[in-house]
Amino acid sequence: MGLNGLIRVPSDKSITHRAILFGAIASGETVVMNPLLGADCRSTIDAVRSLGASVEELDERLRIEGVASVVPATLDCGNSGTTMRLLSGLVSGYSGEFTLVGDDSLSKRPMRRITEPLRQMGADIDGEFAPVRIKGRRLSGIDYTLPVASAQVKSAVLLAGLRADGTTIVREPMLSRDHTERMLPLFGGRVEITNEDGVRTIRLSPSHLDGATVDVPADPSSAAFFWAGAAIVPNSRVTTTDVCLNETRIGFLRTLERMGANVEITRLRPLGEETVGDVTVTTSELRGVTLEGEAIPRQIDELPLFALVASQASSPSVVKDAGELRVKETDRIKTVASELAALGVDIRETEDGFSVFPSRLQAGHVSSHSDHRLSMMLQVAALLIDEPVVIDGIEASEISYPHFRDDLQRLGREIE
Ligand code: S3P
Repeated sequence: MGLNGLIRVPSDKSITHRAILFGAIASGETVVMNPLLGADCRSTIDAVRSLGASVEELDERLRIEGVASVVPATLDCGNSGTTMRLLSGLVSGYSGEFTLVGDDSLSKRPMRRITEPLRQMGADIDGEFAPVRIKGRRLSGIDYTLPVASAQVKSAVLLAGLRADGTTIVREPMLSRDHTERMLPLFGGRVEITNEDGVRTIRLSPSHLDGATVDVPADPSSAAFFWAGAAIVPNSRVTTTDVCLNETRIGFLRTLERMGANVEITRLRPLGEETVGDVTVTTSELRGVTLEGEAIPRQIDELPLFALVASQASSPSVVKDAGELRVKETDRIKTVASELAALGVDIRETEDGFSVFPSRLQAGHVSSHSDHRLSMMLQVAALLIDEPVVIDGIEASEISYPHFRDDLQRLGREIE
């Protein structure tokens, strides 16, 4: 039996984080409609409460009262890299001492990528790995070219720039997700985006934020599990509704189309600063593809899932230029290769990616390594296998997708 039905997956993680963070330092009230309340976004909510903002959880919305000046605090960012990196930029220009801590995985993730530009802005910041210690200070705008395609780094610099003297300029040779610069003007942030010699350039003038209403669309990175499942599990047809179709986020959907998947996009419409639509995927024959260069940041979080989908194609696939995978919640090149190999996939690890060959999956005992995207990818993989698959640490999916297992079951297949 395939996966069949209609589903509105939980709301977007990146957009929810940003709406909470901006609301926390905005004057007056911010309303976040349909927020994601997974563990990562809860880390952001708890952190802004520690900074003095008030966050009220109402039915399907958050009401946030921002603070004029955040108060010194220790901020537990849990498993969330977005929380730690964006908050570091946000608090650097306020006075007081801030300590940002995280769980074991987050404490191994590189922070130099944000401490370096923030120091150039004048920040007193210490810790190339968590805990990150910040003594708030007056900052100055810088002209910064991103050395890695990272929305977290871009956003940390822009958030620091809100309170800096002078203009902050961020240049991105390779486009990363653009929710920060889309959403800031809604809160009164003064942002100008130009293209200079083929390089996207963001100029932010110091800005005071005012509360706003943000309606959060469904998360394409969560919908991706159902798109993948529908594409590779025989006799499937799944529609995911109200999905954020921002092009910086749907590289994986474009990849499925390139592989020959049957993808239909309907009800395309604006929702606030974003575009949303319904996406229907039907089972189809797939061919292998190579993913590299600018395609990588647009589907960085979906590459573990791509490895699974590629194993069901009729020809080999290659992922290159994806060294960033090594510094995600786990080293996702290593963990994806080891866990999919345990299920019979012919996958070969390279320094900055992997090659996947057409494979027949078999039962096995695997682990999520406490990585939410691994847990969900392995649950989709199990749909292709008749005998039981044991997944240790399956609960990691709660980080970005509360009740993933229930939703997967509802659309068709039993998971014990
Ligand atoms: C995110 C940016 C990406 C992504 C992460 C969320 C964000 O990380 O992998 O899941 O919300 O800004 P990088 O900025 O490190 O690429």
